[in-house]
Amino acid sequence: MAKVLVVTSGKGGVGKTTSSAALGAALAQTGQNVVVVDFDVGLRNLDLIMGAERRVVFDLVNVVQGDAKLAQALIRDKRVETLSLLPASQTRDKDALTPEGVERVIDELRAKFDWIVCDSPAGIERGATLAMRHADMAVVVTNPEVSSVRDSDRIIGLLDSKTAKAEAGEKVEKHLLLTRYDAMRAARGEMLKVEDVLEILAIPLLGIIPDSEEVLRASNVGCPVTLHNPISAPARAYADAARRLMGEIIEVVTPIERKGLMSRLFGRKVA
Ligand SMILES: Nc1ncnc2c1ncn2[C@@H]1O[C@H](COP(=O)(O)OP(=O)(O)O)[C@@H](O)[C@H]1O
Ligand SMILES: [Mg+2]
Repeated sequence: MAKVLVVTSGKGGVGKTTSSAALGAALAQTGQNVVVVDFDVGLRNLDLIMGAERRVVFDLVNVVQGDAKLAQALIRDKRVETLSLLPASQTRDKDALTPEGVERVIDELRAKFDWIVCDSPAGIERGATLAMRHADMAVVVTNPEVSSVRDSDRIIGLLDSKTAKAEAGEKVEKHLLLTRYDAMRAARGEMLKVEDVLEILAIPLLGIIPDSEEVLRASNVGCPVTLHNPISAPARAYADAARRLMGEIIEVVTPIERKGLMSRLFGRKVA
């Protein structure tokens, strides 16, 4: 049975698009048939992160409005055969997505893929609620800071009230993905600790992604970090998170970025 997974957060810039690409690629690398869908109409970031921006011809809005067939808009990844992208439109207005149109496209995708990963826009308005509407599962992306945690709490409320599952009296399966985590800054009290975030949000922890230059390097060349540098700390953390989504039980470890001793000492001294 196909699973619809929304990657959501409330707050912008926390790592939703990065995580959609990395988790989508990691799931596809295990042989699952995956499509990542860019619901961030207007921004259109996912195709850049996935290195497909020059291949976009039709997009989600075209398919929702019936101007293109799904097959015309889907872009098959050049690196992983089982990974596809349904890009967002850059130009049209945000109301271009209709609830009926989105439902039809999700149904069509369910027939073709094992996983439909929906990259949500920021906010708690229409765009975000449309992206989560048909979700079976949610990855709530949160940074270890108070404002991000608070917005995640609001999103969890929406997942429990505004989704098709919630309206049918069922639950969306929720997972917390803590991203841009810096163990040293957390130890110094400059960031919330993992336990603090877990206590506030009270949903199961899917993984902890370190704040890492590897993520920036990968996105600069248009490649999900799990493909670009599979042995890097963030790639391994995303790969484990993907396996947990598939039901495997793997212990969550707090990732420590391997930095040089000098930079570690220096980092402590200036703090
Ligand atoms: N683990 C990480 N380490 C370092 N930078 C990150 C990490 N995750 C995301 N970023 C950076 O943070 C910025 C926002 O990420 P993005 O995925 O676009 O967030 P969102 O989709 O939630 O707005 C980007 O510049 C991205 O490269
Ligand atoms: Mg985004």
